[in-house]
Amino acid sequence: MTTPPSHFKLVILGSAAGGGFPQWNCRCAVCSLAWANDPRVRRRTQASIAVTSNGRDWALVNCAPEILGQLQATPALQPREGLRHSPLKSVLLTNADIDHVAGLLSLREAQPFTLMATPGVHGVLAGSSAFDVLAPDVVARRPVQLGASFELVSGVHATIFPVPGKIALYLEAREQAEQGSLTTDREGEQTIGVELAAGGRRVLYIPGCAAMTDTLRARLDGADAVLFDGTLWQDDEMVLAGVGTKTGARMGHMSMSGPRGSIEALREVNVGRKIYVHINNTNPVLVDGSDERITANKAGWEIAHDGMEIAL
Ligand code: MLT
Ligand code: MN
Ligand code: ZN
Repeated sequence: MTTPPSHFKLVILGSAAGGGFPQWNCRCAVCSLAWANDPRVRRRTQASIAVTSNGRDWALVNCAPEILGQLQATPALQPREGLRHSPLKSVLLTNADIDHVAGLLSLREAQPFTLMATPGVHGVLAGSSAFDVLAPDVVARRPVQLGASFELVSGVHATIFPVPGKIALYLEAREQAEQGSLTTDREGEQTIGVELAAGGRRVLYIPGCAAMTDTLRARLDGADAVLFDGTLWQDDEMVLAGVGTKTGARMGHMSMSGPRGSIEALREVNVGRKIYVHINNTNPVLVDGSDERITANKAGWEIAHDGMEIAL
């Protein structure tokens, strides 16, 4: 008996956090290297992955503002039959952040696909009539429940679960006004992680996570690969860089370093490959040869780049 070859594969279409790298208006130390075409850094678009189990039918997890360029750079995702066609059959959203949903506006042009998200995230999109360019008779909006497992695309089974996080930035003012405060590490429908499984292999995509929990650690244990929130190296990084006043905690992102960081939190967790995604432009791990990059690599972490393929 021979086992048929596995075609379960992920392509990292975009590996940067909101803003991309370099960010259009930023001259922080790391962005400055990119603007100067320094060979130690490479440009990155905002976070999204594509997944397939057969090489023919694909799903996206999140849809970045740069989706058109990402598809243009990825032959497997390009039309290949008839007059109008796309290998993209579905899109799953992990939250309603701009970097994860704005690309949907570029997927108009009457191409059918299924848009999957929690009822909460669907509710946010329904509140923005710009998304009505995805006409309901062409793009099916399918609510998926926390804890549910479903076929995301032919042969790829997804399970979604809440992770500590917050609502999208553009909803903060409303939540403040309605509730008098903002919670940045709530577990609910606003921020989810997704487990993707095919052919006995299991990979987790968690581009935003405010804190590690025992439940989450147990879920990651034994996975073939974990793609995890790599927004910041340290919590006050954007403050130290002089580009803003927000900490990682305020933005709903745990950092890589430090006693409560993801390197430490997952040090003893048995995972085939640990890969950072959704990396902010201030994060020094973006620089080849930096102390931070070396520290992350030594702890077993890879730093994602656009176009990276993960065969499972
Ligand atoms: C985030 O991941 O915190 C958001 O993408 C921030 C943003 O919307 O710019
Ligand atoms: Mn983001
Ligand atoms: Zn920057």
